[in-house]
Amino acid sequence: MSDGERPAGISRRRLLAGGAAAGGLVATGSLAAGLPAGAQTADGAAVAGRETAEPIGAGAATGQPAPPAGQAVGGTAVEPFHGVRQAGVATTPQAHAAFVGLDLRKGVGREALGRLMRLLTDDARRLTQGRGALADTEPELAALPARLTVTFGFGPGLFRAAGVKGGPEQVPGFSVDRLEDRWSEGDLLLQICCDDPVTLAHALRMIVKDTASFTKVRWVQRGFRQAVQRPGLTQRNLMGQLDGTVNPKPGTPEFERAVWIADGPLAGGTMLVLRRIRMLMDSWDAADRVAKEFTVGRRLDNGAPLSGRAEHDEADFAKLNAIGFPVISEYAHIRRAHTQDPGLRMFRRVYNYDDGDTGLLFAAYQADVARQFTPVQRRLAKADLLNEWTTPIGSAVFYVPPGCEESGWVGQSLLS
Ligand code: HEM
Repeated sequence: MSDGERPAGISRRRLLAGGAAAGGLVATGSLAAGLPAGAQTADGAAVAGRETAEPIGAGAATGQPAPPAGQAVGGTAVEPFHGVRQAGVATTPQAHAAFVGLDLRKGVGREALGRLMRLLTDDARRLTQGRGALADTEPELAALPARLTVTFGFGPGLFRAAGVKGGPEQVPGFSVDRLEDRWSEGDLLLQICCDDPVTLAHALRMIVKDTASFTKVRWVQRGFRQAVQRPGLTQRNLMGQLDGTVNPKPGTPEFERAVWIADGPLAGGTMLVLRRIRMLMDSWDAADRVAKEFTVGRRLDNGAPLSGRAEHDEADFAKLNAIGFPVISEYAHIRRAHTQDPGLRMFRRVYNYDDGDTGLLFAAYQADVARQFTPVQRRLAKADLLNEWTTPIGSAVFYVPPGCEESGWVGQSLLS
């Protein structure tokens, strides 16, 4: 498709949208409409905010009764869509995620990308607030947003297609990598996260449908985290470890510095490195607890560093045991991965996968991949006891542009 050509999707969509709206088929209701600001969901997660642009009677889209006033139900919780940052990075991780890597079709350039991002922003704006997308065939499936977020990322190929310089570069190859094309690279990323897998599947389908005349799906990677958990506790990965203990904390100055790009044309965004890392579960199961804890440098039960007692005790890498060896091995994962300066740490927001193969969707956000992710991965590739049980099989890098206001769209400053 040439740049000047109008993708079929747009006109068809406008027509459909007009028809659907006229026929009263567009779902505009949100159960969230009845929620007080700052309400808690059933699982304790805070309702961050809500921007239902066209609130109508609660439950209108589903025909189901609204929850009693002041009593929030998990599925009704809404994450704000508009803002300086895109949602889905600092957002408390939802239970489910789908990462979709898309390749641009031939000839899609800057102007077409602008139209695509306007369209997708509109979809995300509606779906995340509990409303059907325009011309949504099943708007009922959007009615329980369950903290849905849709986050867009631009890969190196998108920057090239748009003729914009200064985009992300793929990370270099590492000796431990066994990368497969089917899990790697991609021009445009959709990161869709939600506490409800049905809402997520619907959002994914609606949005991917709208990309069809501009892109082809390269890969879809689905993941999950512990869904029922007290707020504030660290989740466990499929190896049974508490995963996420030492991580920049959203809302702190360290997080700001570590995650968001401060200046230049990409300011206000962040860089995502997504690695698909296979876990060799059969041999991990065969290892005993002592070996497993030695490998990471932390206890399995409460996640404490081997040098301490509680999860958030600072690891003492200098501590020696009775016979003079380091308590936390020279090759333990946390020693090799540790970065002294908190403002230079990456922010890990990982998901498990278990679909015939088991592993981790290692999603790490940072302001500068070359200063944050790459040196750590290089140290791990050189020596990390965990390498015995883990293999990176996919790798992709995306620039996550800033968020947008009601009148704008994601990517506007780069593409318009
Ligand atoms: C399947 C692969 C992996 C598993 C199972 C895993 C697991 C863990 C666990 C259990 C911890 C300790 C708890 C915590 O602080 O979160 C940890 C820490 C950490 N991991 Fe990983 N990890 C994996 C891959 C990676 C990769 C690829 C990187 C980066 C290139 C990385 C970077 C880090 C960092 C920066 C820390 C914190 C270190 C500290 O300062 O204490 N991990 N990981």
